[in-house]
Amino acid sequence: MEKNSSPYVCHVFVCVNDRKGARKSCADGNSPAVKQLLKGEFKKRGWTGKVRVSHCGCMGLCMDGPNVMLYPQRIWFSGVTEDNTDSVIREVESIMEDHDGG
Ligand code: FES
Repeated sequence: MEKNSSPYVCHVFVCVNDRKGARKSCADGNSPAVKQLLKGEFKKRGWTGKVRVSHCGCMGLCMDGPNVMLYPQRIWFSGVTEDNTDSVIREVESIMEDHDGG
């Protein structure tokens, strides 16, 4: 095993846990579509290899979902839907500007 630093400037985790209505979960808010939308936006900006979007399982704040977490910045968005991803995108833009010295 090796221990390394993350290769990404920003790793975006989108919870896609789906409890199929038994209890609230992030998939209730169509989080898989949020993930696809964010992936597309970051790819358009040419950030492949710098910004990574991954789906993940439950992050523990299910009642506030859909949840999106930016690592290693420790920024957390709740209630993210396809209609309000602008705030997430703006935040990642700001992170990338800071990283690129812009
Ligand atoms: S189901 Fe997404 S945080 Fe628990």
